[in-house]
Amino acid sequence: TYVVTDACIKCKYMDCVEVCPVDCFYEGDNMLVIHPAECIDCGVCEPECPAEAILPDTEPNQEKWLELNTKFAEEWPNITQSREAPEDADEHKGEEGKYEKYFS
Ligand code: SF4
Ligand code: F3S
Repeated sequence: TYVVTDACIKCKYMDCVEVCPVDCFYEGDNMLVIHPAECIDCGVCEPECPAEAILPDTEPNQEKWLELNTKFAEEWPNITQSREAPEDADEHKGEEGKYEKYFS
């Protein structure tokens, strides 16, 4: 599966939502997650994200994000249509430590 990592937090560009053929993105206040059981591993979302927040879970150190995606995909609503990114999205692009600072 692919997973959304902390680089999405407060950026939420939503370009990923448009391209997913199986609509497996789920939306929280600050970020999106992928439902690992629904993702078909097509990989088209990865290069679409301006924040480079999407990675295959086969990359090193993705356990934490896989766990987070798995948990919140069950709790958050499905999102199938993208909207505008937050106004301050660019200010948070590439920022370090976003999970610790903003995720609750
Ligand atoms: Fe959707 Fe493909 Fe990305 Fe999985 S890898 S979330 S199926 S676009
Ligand atoms: Fe987040 Fe990137 Fe999608 S910032 S909302 S994973 S396009």
